[in-house]
Amino acid sequence: EKGGYATFMEKEIHEQPHAVADTLLGRTDDAGRLVLDEVRIPEERLRQVERITIVACGTAAYAGMVAKYAIEHWTRIPVEVALAHEFRYCDPIVDENTLVVSISQSGETMDTLMAVKHAAELGAMTLSICNTHGSTIPRESDAVLYTHAGPEIAVASTKAFLAQITACYVLGLYLAQLRGETYADDARAVMAELHEMPAKIEDLLGRMGRVQEMAEFMSDSRAVLFLGRHVGYPVALEGALKLKELAYIHAEGFAAGELKHGPIALIEPGQPVFVVVPSPETPHELHKKVVSNIQEIRARGARTLVIAHDGDEDVEPFASEVIRIPHCSPMLAPLLAVVPLQVFALHLASAKGLDVDQPRNLAKSVTVE
Ligand code: BG6
Repeated sequence: EKGGYATFMEKEIHEQPHAVADTLLGRTDDAGRLVLDEVRIPEERLRQVERITIVACGTAAYAGMVAKYAIEHWTRIPVEVALAHEFRYCDPIVDENTLVVSISQSGETMDTLMAVKHAAELGAMTLSICNTHGSTIPRESDAVLYTHAGPEIAVASTKAFLAQITACYVLGLYLAQLRGETYADDARAVMAELHEMPAKIEDLLGRMGRVQEMAEFMSDSRAVLFLGRHVGYPVALEGALKLKELAYIHAEGFAAGELKHGPIALIEPGQPVFVVVPSPETPHELHKKVVSNIQEIRARGARTLVIAHDGDEDVEPFASEVIRIPHCSPMLAPLLAVVPLQVFALHLASAKGLDVDQPRNLAKSVTVE
């Protein structure tokens, strides 16, 4: 049942090309327009959306953070991401023109369910992005957009994360189409590029030998830091979460711009730091800024583990290791950049002899508040 893999997690990491492809399936008509049949909220109501609040926990919340960048960029609708367990208690500003989007693999996470119920009581439209048909959260929501990652068995989420990000992109493009205006990027061009991502993820999975070696070599690490910027920031947070969950190592993700405001004090010789580098064409010179962050920490002795696009030579002088991902446009890069971080956590935990599929103290779906 593990399909020849040693663990469910490894199998699920390798199912990611399918998770993305299947989540894209049937979302466009012959004319290339997005059609979301499962979204039962009338189109005229969706046109009235003035703000979006995403509620989720753990990995799903990081998918929501990626979604914020994409949805705001494409629709200019303000998007807020709230941890579901905080949402209900922060007197949320929600009304009938708010779309509350929940993201949950299981559809049973109590914190997320209670947030959705609270949003509905306040009159919001509720839409569930969910991987489990017939589960509670989609049933309690006005609309559902299913991710088609297939059942995820390993406690630590991998393929569901990629499917959630994909579904969020589709939702963002759909809302932009409904409102008749994509403020940036052409929706069809983005969809076309999304359809290329499964092959790129497959390509990337074939390059993970060195990451596995690094993980085995680093199995006695005491702390690992992760830096990212723009959509790479939630990827850094997710990379750190995977390492905490699986390998019980102290791991923290930071926004790279925050480095000089505190975290740089943590850098001492030998400190491993993963850096998720934006593609060179990311606006506002973010690529250049992240490259200088790598230079700064390298000068203080950090072991710089750099995730960079194919062809990005600027990182070479400051990288202890360069992990290459296939080139793609800036917004879609999380679908690739997170993969080496998943593989790293998996192999580091395995090298420590830990149970990768069932880490201590964690449950696949947490049905208590
Ligand atoms: C946690 C799981 O408890 O719940 C995480 O260990 C998961 O992996 C989180 O991301 C949210 O779960 P769900 O099912 O709502 O996506």
